[in-house]
Amino acid sequence: MHTKQLDKYVGQEVTLKGWVANRRESKTVVFINLRDGQGMCQCILGIDDLGEELFAEAKSLGQESSVAITGKVVVDERQIGGYELHATGLKVYQNAKDYPITNKEHGVEFLVDNRHLWLRSRRQWAIMKVRNSTIYAIHNFFQSQDFVQMDAPIFTGNAAEGTTDLFETDYYGKPAYLTQSGQLYGEAMAMAMGKIYTFGPTFRAEKSKTRRHLSEFWMIEPEMAFCDIFENMDTIEAFLRAVVQEVIVKCPAELEILGRDISKLETIAKPFPRLSYDDAVEILKGDKDVDGQNSLKTLESDLEIVNARILEAKAEIAEREATIAAGGIKKGVINFNQSKIDGLKNELKQLEEEQRNIPNWLKSARDFKYGNDFGGSDETVLTRLFDLPIMVYDWPHEIKAFYMKRNPEDPRFARGVDVLAPEGYGEIVGGGERETSEEWLVEKINEHKLPLDVFQWYLDLRRYGSVPHSGFGLGLERLVAWVCKLDHVRETIPFPRYYGRLEP
Ligand code: 4AD
Ligand code: MG
Repeated sequence: MHTKQLDKYVGQEVTLKGWVANRRESKTVVFINLRDGQGMCQCILGIDDLGEELFAEAKSLGQESSVAITGKVVVDERQIGGYELHATGLKVYQNAKDYPITNKEHGVEFLVDNRHLWLRSRRQWAIMKVRNSTIYAIHNFFQSQDFVQMDAPIFTGNAAEGTTDLFETDYYGKPAYLTQSGQLYGEAMAMAMGKIYTFGPTFRAEKSKTRRHLSEFWMIEPEMAFCDIFENMDTIEAFLRAVVQEVIVKCPAELEILGRDISKLETIAKPFPRLSYDDAVEILKGDKDVDGQNSLKTLESDLEIVNARILEAKAEIAEREATIAAGGIKKGVINFNQSKIDGLKNELKQLEEEQRNIPNWLKSARDFKYGNDFGGSDETVLTRLFDLPIMVYDWPHEIKAFYMKRNPEDPRFARGVDVLAPEGYGEIVGGGERETSEEWLVEKINEHKLPLDVFQWYLDLRRYGSVPHSGFGLGLERLVAWVCKLDHVRETIPFPRYYGRLEP
């Protein structure tokens, strides 16, 4: 019996098992918000129904105590979930004392240190549900289109995505690397099955703390035989649209808990803008406008708005603090002013972060050198101009992986495509068409100073029945971070691994 099934038991007696998320009491009644993993239910435990002994026990329950509560299901639309339990019985599994995560504000580092407990909080619960629905939607999309799911190896002898961020391990006395990408194996499997996708953990030794980088993350990598860069972009677009739309339908309550403005996700129904790298650079540097919007001018005016709002918020805080300090007002009025002050201080924190960031973004956009890869700031500047994901294709071949196909019409470019999520999120997908010429591949492998011998099996794919083929990689955590509009990818995975973090 779970909180989600309560609608079928109105007027009947049921038993719910779960944890005490919250408890308050009066002389004769204890109110418990019971959390059972599926949802929440307010339980009302009265002294008359429970008897004195059980009632005393109910009164003593600490946050996160584990209990079973029996009672009658009553409709109450004001309650979370829409039902209430009028208790007649209580069984305590464990009375927990001094649960470390209280309703107070906690610092992020403290919460990450307590990730094993933090997962129980409402926001984290909602994020994990969105992650689950995202995973399900991803499988749904590929399975419904006859892709075969494959599991690529985790130990590999070769680097797929450059040698700078490899985790090296000892493999029976020989060096092996934790996989950065299943793609090369995916290409082999696509020649056997036509269309495949991998869904597994991937590893990158990213020695920097950013809000987008994990050392261990989950990647979805489809690979399609007889597919060029443009068909690949069509697939990426259909895929992201289907997944986001399914998550919106499956997780309205979770997205509401997270305060996510769903209209910002619903734009995914529109066609994704496709820009060549050259176009994207012009837009970034402010040489070309998007729907009348200029990247640099928008940033400058945003900065003015932020500065003005900071002054306004500071003035309001001072005014409300003075009201409280003056005294002679009712407790309700004090509380009202205090909660306004708390809200304004939160807003101020965000505004001040923007105030620090915008000048950096401006500088990075102005100084961008044609031919470079986009950094996090550049992606932010670009994507702030769009309200849905954009696809950037045809990149200078020097900055892309060795396996990228060169544009036959203009070999300065490689047929790679990056998808940048809006609202400043940036790259969530990287992919492209694969080089089919053995000769060009060997040249690239040498140029990247990779050992040719470990790629002989990969070159076999070009020797026996080579076909045009393409694929892409989606970072699950980056997609979930954008869908939930989170500040950092670390909240999107149960136990995050990033530079400096191995525990819990
Ligand atoms: O752009 P990347 O490096 O591309 C590949 O690995 C290709 N082999 C994919 C393919 O074509 N089959 O990585 C793909 C995606 C990125 O767009 C990003 O979403 C995610 O993987 N990603 C990371 N996510 C979290 N933390 C990191 N350190 C990430 N590195 C990449
Ligand atoms: Mg990439």
